[in-house]
Amino acid sequence: MRTQVGIIGAGPAGLLLSHLLHLRGIESVVLETRTRDQIESTIRAGVLEQGTMDLLSETGVGERMKAEGALHHGFELAFEGKRHRIDLSDLTGHAITVYAQHEVIKDLVAARAAAGAELRFGVSDTSIHGIDTDTPSIRYRHEGEQHELQCDFVIGCDGSQGVSRAAIPQALRRDFERVYPFGWFGILCEGPPSSDELIYARHERGFALISTRSHNVQRMYFQCDPKDSVDNWSDDRIWAELHARADSHDGQKIIDGKIFQKNIVGMRSFVSTTMQHGRLFLAGDAAHIVPPTGAKGMNLAVADVKVLSQALDAFYKESRADLLDRYSETALKRIWRAEHFSYWMTSMLHRIDGASPFEQQLQIAELEYVTSSRTAATVLAENYVGIAGAQMQSRS
Ligand code: PHB
Repeated sequence: MRTQVGIIGAGPAGLLLSHLLHLRGIESVVLETRTRDQIESTIRAGVLEQGTMDLLSETGVGERMKAEGALHHGFELAFEGKRHRIDLSDLTGHAITVYAQHEVIKDLVAARAAAGAELRFGVSDTSIHGIDTDTPSIRYRHEGEQHELQCDFVIGCDGSQGVSRAAIPQALRRDFERVYPFGWFGILCEGPPSSDELIYARHERGFALISTRSHNVQRMYFQCDPKDSVDNWSDDRIWAELHARADSHDGQKIIDGKIFQKNIVGMRSFVSTTMQHGRLFLAGDAAHIVPPTGAKGMNLAVADVKVLSQALDAFYKESRADLLDRYSETALKRIWRAEHFSYWMTSMLHRIDGASPFEQQLQIAELEYVTSSRTAATVLAENYVGIAGAQMQSRS
């Protein structure tokens, strides 16, 4: 089989890239190890920056997001028993939408399938060949048979555990990493929202986040030991912990519900440079990971493939390779901005075991500052809605 762009991975990066290329008249094939059912049910975060919302809407895949997602104009920072609102719209003129990543995936799969796209699920033994030539290829197994996909470009959108990153020679790569000594315990529960907006809470017992999925399904998290097991946490123990961390002293309480899903995720920051070599380009988690505190993961994947689709378009329509040549450099400007922001939010809000009383007071001093100075709040808000990252990218 032959195509113009071979895409490995059907997460948000791979599917959206395939969709954007299709709109520009460029053919692609998407290969995915998991089944369609698995990718459509994998639970991840759910905050879409304004730029992500706009791109999905402008390219015809934003209908359900607009109907079912919740537009939020602000969020709350809670510490020392009080909640403080960060008014995103007032500070930046922008908002965010809370809409789960797997819903975005469903919308993209539906749009690609309706356009007759070649999406292959359940592939295995994927390997990349010839990226130093103009005729690279991807070999894989599908339904018991060996296949080779010949293409002009290979795009690795296969996440942090995929095969693509390792196809860039080690000698040309430099990785940057920070592993945090804590994780997030996440739950989904039935019940009404505890608050109109997300609550990010710092507490001596550890961080907590109150998010939502719909009027009757809620998403909440609390900081935990990444090696802990969900089996150690009864529903009663979970609610006691969430109440201790997220209820405010003036009597605002989170609302308990029937828990139907529990999971624990580790947290790390990671950037792999370069994001390109020859005819291979990496996008999304294949090249970078952020801790979920800043809600940037999917938004960075979207930003990468937007840059990549424009660069591929310039290559095919105008025979220009300069945008492709600069892809990694362009994308990394925004990625490093988001890396810093996610690290900062994480450090400001989490309990750091072994932190001295002095260091704990510094966290509170910083939270006091971002919730009282308009200038400091604007720094937080423009990073959260994504305009800080967009500005960095447009300067490159
Ligand atoms: C979520 O709703 O899953 C969520 C929201 C905000 C975050 C992370 C996760 O920062």
